[in-house]
Amino acid sequence: MQFDASTVREQFPSLSVADNGVRRIYLDNPAGTQVPVSVAHRIADCLLYHNANVGGFFRTSVSAGELVDNARLACADFLNAVSVEEIIFGQSMTALTLHLSRSIGRYLDAGDEIVLSRMDHDANIAPWLLMARDYDLKVRWLPFNTESFEFDADALDSVLTDRTRLVCVGGASNMTGTLNDVKGLCARIRAAGAWSYIDAVQSAPHVLVDVQDIGCDFLVCSAYKFFGPHQSVLWGRHDVLRQLEPYKVRPAPVELPWCFETGTQSHESIAGIGAAIDYFAALGGAASAGDTRRQQLAGAFAQLFDYEKSLAGRLIGGLQAIPGIRVQGITDRNALDRRVPTVSFTHANKHPEMIASALAEQNIFVWSGHNYAVEPAKALGIYDSGGVVRIGAVHYNTAAEIDATLTALEGIL
Ligand SMILES: Cc1ncc(COP(=O)(O)O)c(C=O)c1O
Repeated sequence: MQFDASTVREQFPSLSVADNGVRRIYLDNPAGTQVPVSVAHRIADCLLYHNANVGGFFRTSVSAGELVDNARLACADFLNAVSVEEIIFGQSMTALTLHLSRSIGRYLDAGDEIVLSRMDHDANIAPWLLMARDYDLKVRWLPFNTESFEFDADALDSVLTDRTRLVCVGGASNMTGTLNDVKGLCARIRAAGAWSYIDAVQSAPHVLVDVQDIGCDFLVCSAYKFFGPHQSVLWGRHDVLRQLEPYKVRPAPVELPWCFETGTQSHESIAGIGAAIDYFAALGGAASAGDTRRQQLAGAFAQLFDYEKSLAGRLIGGLQAIPGIRVQGITDRNALDRRVPTVSFTHANKHPEMIASALAEQNIFVWSGHNYAVEPAKALGIYDSGGVVRIGAVHYNTAAEIDATLTALEGIL
């Protein structure tokens, strides 16, 4: 049975907002999704009734600690972590990555090599370039095929050497929407004796992450891309985290995971992540006897992925029918399993900014530019021409919204 978006839309008050009678169409999701009432309530509850620093003896401190502990458990289920000690919270993927790169860099020797991907968001590139500069490491680049928008089968092998210590690669591209075979990549990275750092910011809203199955060493994602608040989670393999020196202030705990959590955390946001994960789990059906949250999550993502694939196919087909448009990503209807419903395009003679602003006038929200996907935009030769128009669907979007967006585009172009 196909997922029906109308069953969830009422949980998102923002989806029914209209401005001067014109309904809003949210297709800016790769930059941040809308939030269901349950998430906002959990955050409000934390702020209104459990607002204290954690670690004290008194009631609010204890209950704030419980909210954080519960959210950590939820994240462990969401990512299939072996232990909550592997779950580290932080303000953003960028902040977590910059922070951890300091600990990883200290562990490496001058002349060691790291591999960075040309398909990645700058948050999985710039922190590592800075680390390479500071620790005198060699950077090798993993290119992607600009015709297929995927990594060629042998691309990784040709950049791995016996000095490779770390490979940083994304789960899904925030520009082309390509969904990478991270499990296959991580097997080769591991075989080469290197660590893998997976940026799952754009894949986690669409595909259920399983760090054990992927076989990565680090994985990071951001809850504001999957219906939660502005807060991120870094998963690190327990034995790998143990080898790193945490950069921390002296009185902060020495134990995992707290030693990697810098300063006082946003407890309300952490509580909100737990609620976002529970939102997904509920989509997988009421927890029947014996169903774990992980099983509920798996049920939810299976339905959502199929539904999102249908939106992506509809959108891509419609875009391809508009003269002058080139979709900058996988378009083959038989390969929609290898992409997320983030669809970027360029036009032969219209600037992406002009198109995005014309859509905004019709209350259709999309992004234009490179969206921090600096390397992909350069590789595709569109960096200097204004990047792309990016239309990103999630499961609360409808076929009618896609059609309305295509009709608006036809008018604009
Ligand atoms: C693929 C990808 N990685 C990393 C980031 C950065 O995430 P954050 O905003 O949590 O730092 C983004 C943000 O858009 C992204 O799309």
